[in-house]
Amino acid sequence: MMASISKNVFLYASRNGLLNHAAKKWGLKFGASQVVAGVNIESAVKIVRELNQQGIACTLDHLGEFVSSKEEAAQAAEYNVKTLEAMAEAGVDSQLSVKLTQIGLDVDRAFCVENMRRILEAAKWHGNFVQIDMEDYAHYQLTLDILKELRDVYGYNNVGTVIQAYLHRAGQDVKSLKGIPLRLVKGAYKESAKVAYQDKRDVDDNFLVIIKEHLLSGSYTAIATHDHHIIARVKELVKEHSIPFDQFEFQLLYGFRTDVQLSLVREGCNVRVYVPFGDDWFGYFMRRLAERPQNVSFALKGFMSK
Ligand code: FDA
Repeated sequence: MMASISKNVFLYASRNGLLNHAAKKWGLKFGASQVVAGVNIESAVKIVRELNQQGIACTLDHLGEFVSSKEEAAQAAEYNVKTLEAMAEAGVDSQLSVKLTQIGLDVDRAFCVENMRRILEAAKWHGNFVQIDMEDYAHYQLTLDILKELRDVYGYNNVGTVIQAYLHRAGQDVKSLKGIPLRLVKGAYKESAKVAYQDKRDVDDNFLVIIKEHLLSGSYTAIATHDHHIIARVKELVKEHSIPFDQFEFQLLYGFRTDVQLSLVREGCNVRVYVPFGDDWFGYFMRRLAERPQNVSFALKGFMSK
C-alpha cells in the first residue's frame, strides 16, 4: 500500500513540468549524482572513461523532457551530435541513447525524423550506434514506424530500439524486428491493462519469452535489467542453446547494482551501462525512485547531506 502510494507520488513528480523546470537550476540534488553522471558532457565522458577502465561499455543519454518547440528539439539534436563528437574525441567506448520526444516527436514528426537523421549521420561518421529509447505507449507505434523509416527508407543500419516486455504485443514486435539490435526491458511506464500485463510474474515470463525469441533468431540482444533472477535465466539459456557471448550483452543503469555489473564482466559477459547526464535530471531520478522504493533511502541520505 505505502509502496504503491510512493510510486504514484514519484511518477506524478516525474511528470510535473514546474518541478522539472525548477530542478534545472538546482544542480544535482538529493543524491541524484549517484545515478546521474553530472550536468555536462565533460563530467559524463569522465565517468564513461572510468567505467571503460573496469571493462564496462556505456551508452550515454543526454536527459531532456517536456520538449514543446522546434527550437528546443533542434538544440537537443545538436547536443546529441556534440555528445557523439566528444565521445569520439575522448576515444571512449560508448554508444548513444536518444528519446524521440526530446528531438521533437510531439512537435512535428517530420522534423523529428530530420533531427534523428542528423544524429545518425554523425554516429555513422564516428562509427557509432544509436539506440532509440522506448517511451510510453502513446509513442510506441510512432517510434517503431520511425525506426523502420530510418532503416528501410534512409538506409541507416546503426540504429535500433527498445521493446518492453509488459506489452501484450511485445512478442510479435520482437519477431518483426528480427536482425535489428534491440534492447529488451520489462517496461518503465504506467500502462493500462488493455495493452500491458499488470502482474509482475506475467511481465517476467514475457520478458524471458522475448529474450529467447530474439537470441534464437540470431539477432544481437541487449538484456537490460537489474533482476538477478532474469540474469541467471539468461545465462542458462545461452548455455543451453550455445549462443556466442558476442551476440548479447547485459545492460544496467549507472549507479545500480555495481556488484552485479562487475561480476558479469569477470564472467566474460559484455556489459553496457546506461549513463544519463544533463541538467534535466529530475524526471529520470523520480522514475528511478518510483521503480524501487528502497532507493528512497539513498535519496533521503543525499537530501540530508546537501
Ligand atoms: P525489477 O525492478 O522488476 O526488479 C526485480 C528484482 O530484481 C527485485 O525484486 C530485486 O530482487 C532485484 N533488484 C532490482 N533492482 C535492484 C537493485 N537496484 N538492487 C538490488 N536488487 C535489485 N524502460 C523503458 O520503458 N524504456 C527504455 O528505453 C528503458 N531503457 C532501459 C535501459 C536500461 C539499461 C535499463 C537497466 C532499464 C531500462 N528501462 C527502460 C527500465 C526497465 O523497463 C525497468 O523499468 C527497470 O529496469 C526495472 O526493472 P528490472 O528488470 O531492472 O527489475
